[in-house]
Formats: sequence, structure tokens, C-alpha cells
Amino acid sequence: MDPAAAAPLARRLLLAVCWLVVAAGRATGAQVLPPPSNLDYSFIQICTLNWTWNPPENVSSSCDLEYSSDIVIDELPLGKTEWSKSRFRVTDTFLNEEMRFKVRSECKRSNASQPSQWVETSLLPRGIPGTAAVGLSCVWHNLEYMDCSWRPGENASSDTNYTLFYWFDGLKNPKKCNNYSMDHRRCIFSLSFPKATNTYPAISILIRDDSEDIRPVCASKNPTTLVRPATPRRLTLSKINDEIYVEWSESDTFPENCLSYEVKYHNGDLDAAKIIKVENNYTSIPSVDPNSKYTFKVRANPKSACYSSELFSDWSEEKSIGEKTDSTFYFVLIITIPLIVAVSTIILLIYLKRLKILILPPIPDPREILKRVFGEQNEDSQSCAKDDSVNAYDRLVKEEEIHSLILTETPVCANPEKENP
Ligand SMILES: *[C@@H]1O[C@H](CO)[C@@H](O)[C@H](O)[C@H]1NC(C)=O
Ligand SMILES: *[C@@H]1O[C@H](CO)[C@@H](O)[C@H](O)[C@H]1NC(C)=O
Ligand SMILES: *[C@@H]1O[C@H](CO)[C@@H](O)[C@H](O)[C@H]1NC(C)=O
Ligand SMILES: *[C@@H]1O[C@H](CO)[C@@H](O)[C@H](O)[C@H]1NC(C)=O
Ligand SMILES: *[C@@H]1O[C@H](CO)[C@@H](O)[C@H](O)[C@H]1NC(C)=O
Ligand SMILES: *[C@@H]1O[C@H](CO)[C@@H](O)[C@H](O)[C@H]1NC(C)=O
Ligand SMILES: *[C@@H]1O[C@H](CO)[C@@H](O)[C@H](O)[C@H]1NC(C)=O
Repeated sequence: MDPAAAAPLARRLLLAVCWLVVAAGRATGAQVLPPPSNLDYSFIQICTLNWTWNPPENVSSSCDLEYSSDIVIDELPLGKTEWSKSRFRVTDTFLNEEMRFKVRSECKRSNASQPSQWVETSLLPRGIPGTAAVGLSCVWHNLEYMDCSWRPGENASSDTNYTLFYWFDGLKNPKKCNNYSMDHRRCIFSLSFPKATNTYPAISILIRDDSEDIRPVCASKNPTTLVRPATPRRLTLSKINDEIYVEWSESDTFPENCLSYEVKYHNGDLDAAKIIKVENNYTSIPSVDPNSKYTFKVRANPKSACYSSELFSDWSEEKSIGEKTDSTFYFVLIITIPLIVAVSTIILLIYLKRLKILILPPIPDPREILKRVFGEQNEDSQSCAKDDSVNAYDRLVKEEEIHSLILTETPVCANPEKENP
């Protein structure tokens, strides 16, 4: 065979192969399943959608029909492909992004037919882009209430009054949160389950505004990851020999053995504070320095066996035990002792002055008396009479000063008058 003849043959062979491939494709193409029809969705809860569709027509009875479905959020597949025989799928929704849902029919365990084309439908967000609340974070405080906060979207006015709704499996209807902070960026709602509960439903949270311009947003929160215990209370310290025994109250909303504690203590030096981990509501510190003052505080965190939350409570109030006087006590002493001393001194002084007057009456100065007696004898009675009014006043004052205690002293001016005649 000459090479010139070989080339067309090769070309013909190639064509034949191509035709075979196309024919095979057509053959399998004929077996491509028809797709599901009437794909639709409806909200069954604030943040939950039920996507529904009808089965494809003319599917042979030998086909073990299944539907595979997938979700695409803002062009990104979520990678949550599911296969099922039922003609609906329930999914969460986020509302602030475009959500596309796609489904196709497949015959399970059969390579006789090919899966159908995808059928899809999408849920477009409403409102102005960038107006949805952002940065939603929630803390489940002491298994009693949920405390959620968020920020306004960058394109939302800062006084947007967002409203929070929540729902979880077990609630008939969604509930509206009512306890907002002043700026409507935080809301607290009570959330508790029976103590024996060990699995908690996901909490759907919808934050929206009555205005059509504000884009709503949904989030699903797993409450066990948000648990934060209450601050331990009633911290009590006692000293037994060389041991300090520490005890505090347990939260009564937590099941038994679901909290562990950190006890932090130091004796004066804050940098040398020690932290010990405790599983009960008490502990003791052995062989302490009897001459030091020890200061304690405690905080709680959930045990990983019960909750997948790493959140610690606040530290409890500090309590101290030991020889050295407590600093506040010391401070009070510094302030009050001088005050008490000063006040009592003043009181004492006043009291003493009165006492002195009572016990030790002012002793009349003999010189004064003599001077008066002799000095005034030299004066004539005329002047005495002239100055009578002045002397009367003097006398009055002196009498008042000396009071009845100086009974022996007779009026100064009376003496010459009586002696002179
Ligand atoms: C979803 O809708 C289908 C069809 O209406 C219904 O049969 C199914 O029970 C719904 N699913 C839920 C979880 O409500
Ligand atoms: C299903 O099959 C019937 C008859 O075999 C045919 O008339 C009909 O057009 C088919 N429907 C589809 C959607 O292929
Ligand atoms: C497809 O069919 C062939 C022959 O019928 C079989 O050997 C093979 O396992 C099947 N492959 C599948 C189900 O993927
Ligand atoms: C806010 O609005 C501007 C203008 O309409 C837009 O370009 C921007 O993407 C928006 N911000 C967000 C976070 O969507
Ligand atoms: C939000 O509420 C406050 C007070 O209740 C009000 O002054 C403010 O105008 C409200 N904001 C909007 C965007 O309506
Ligand atoms: C609202 O929340 C505050 C804490 O921010 C709380 O002190 C108050 O008791 C709550 N009010 C109601 C009615 O739950
Ligand atoms: C510590 O826990 C025990 C058992 O739960 C309880 O009886 C005790 O009162 C708790 N201690 C304090 C200080 O509350």
C-alpha cells in the first residue's frame, strides 16, 4: 500500500471512529432521563425553605428513580449535594444572598440511562445591597437567655431599627424578640430547655426591618456552641490548719457535672497568681504560708462533654483570707481612726471645760481684789456715783462671769459707800 492511499484510509477510519462515538452518544442520549418538573419553593419557617418538584414523565418502571439536588449561593456551590427519593428538600436560607436550587433525576444502580439535565430556580434577595445587619453574634447565657448583637449594614442608615425573630424545632410559630438595646443593635430573649435535654435544636434567627429597602438576613445558630455560664457566686474561704478551703455556688440551671472551674489565687504578688482547674464547686489549697494573705476568685466554663462552647463566665468577686489586714479594711482604718480620735478629742475637750468649771471654779486673783479694794478706796465716792452706771454694768458682767460661786465678794462700789459714812 502506498502512503498516498494510506492517508485517506486513516482519515476514513478516524471518521468511522468519530461516527461510532457520535452514534454511541446518540444511543446513550436517547436514554437521558427527563428532568423533574414544576420546581418551586415555599417558606415553612422564617429561615427555612421547602423546595418541591414533580416527578419526570415516562420513566421506565425498571428505573430506581432518585433525585439529586444541590444549592448554589452567590454562584458558589455549597457542596451539599443530596440524593433522595422524596420530591422535596428542606434547606436553610440566608436571604441576603442569591440562592439557587437545582435538581435532576437519576436512575440508581443503572448505567442504562443518564441523569437528566439540571432544573433550577433561584431566590433573589430583596432590599438594597449592603443594608442587611452584619456581624451577628449570640451568647447563650447560663442556659437561660440568648443575647444577640449585630451591626447595621454599611449601606443602612445608622438608626435602622432592626427587629429580631427566632424559631427552633419545637416552637409552633416564630417569636419576636422584645428586649432591645436603645440603638436596636442588641436583643435578649429567654431560651431554656428542660434540664434533662442533651440535644438542642438549631436556632434560626432572622433580622429584618419593616422597610422594604432593608435587606433581611437569616442565620442558624447551634446553641451548644454559645453556652456561657453565670458568674460563680457566694465564694467562701475558710482556713483549716495549713489548708485553705474554697467553695462557691453552682449554677442551678446546668445539669450535674457539666461545668468546670478555674480558681485563681495569689498571696500579694499578682504576677505570681496561680490558676488551678477544678471539676467540683470546692477545692482546697494545701500547705499555705500562715503569715500571708491569700486572695481568690473563680470562673466557670462548660465541660466539653456537655457543650462545645469555650466561653468562660466572668470572674467572681475576690475574697481574701490570712494574716495581713485586707487593704480595704486597712484603708477604712486609716480614714476612721484619726477621725474618731479627732471627734472624741473635741468632745472630750468641750466636756472637760465644763467639768473644769464645775470642779475647779476660777480662783479669784488676790492681787485683783486688793487692787480693787485699795485703788477704789482712794477714789472719792462721788466718782463712784458718777461711774455708777458703768460700775453697775461691770458688776453685772463680773457677776455673770463669777456667777454665784463667788458669794463672798461684795460689790466693789458698795464697800466705800458703807465704810465711808
Ligand atoms: C414540603 O412540601 C411537600 C409538598 O407540599 C410536603 O409533602 C412536605 O411535607 C413538605 N415538607 C415539610 C418539611 O414541610
Ligand atoms: C410520554 O410518552 C407518551 C406515549 O408514550 C407520549 O405521548 C408523551 O409525549 C411522552 N411524554 C414526554 C414528556 O416525553
Ligand atoms: C454498567 O454496565 C456494565 C455492563 O452492563 C457493568 O459491567 C458495569 O458495572 C455498569 N457500570 C456502572 C453501574 O457504573
Ligand atoms: C453599598 O452600596 C453601593 C452603591 O449602591 C454598592 O456599590 C456597595 O456594594 C454596597 N455595599 C455592599 C456591602 O453591598
Ligand atoms: C428608630 O427608632 C428611633 C426611636 O424609636 C427613631 O428616632 C428613629 O427615627 C427610628 N429609625 C428609623 C430608621 O425609623
Ligand atoms: C432586658 O434585658 C436587660 C439586660 O440587658 C435585663 O436586665 C432586663 O431584665 C430584660 N428585661 C426583660 C423584660 O426581660
Ligand atoms: C456546692 O455544691 C453543693 C452540691 O451541689 C451544694 O450543696 C453547696 O451548697 C454548694 N456550695 C455553695 C457555696 O453554694
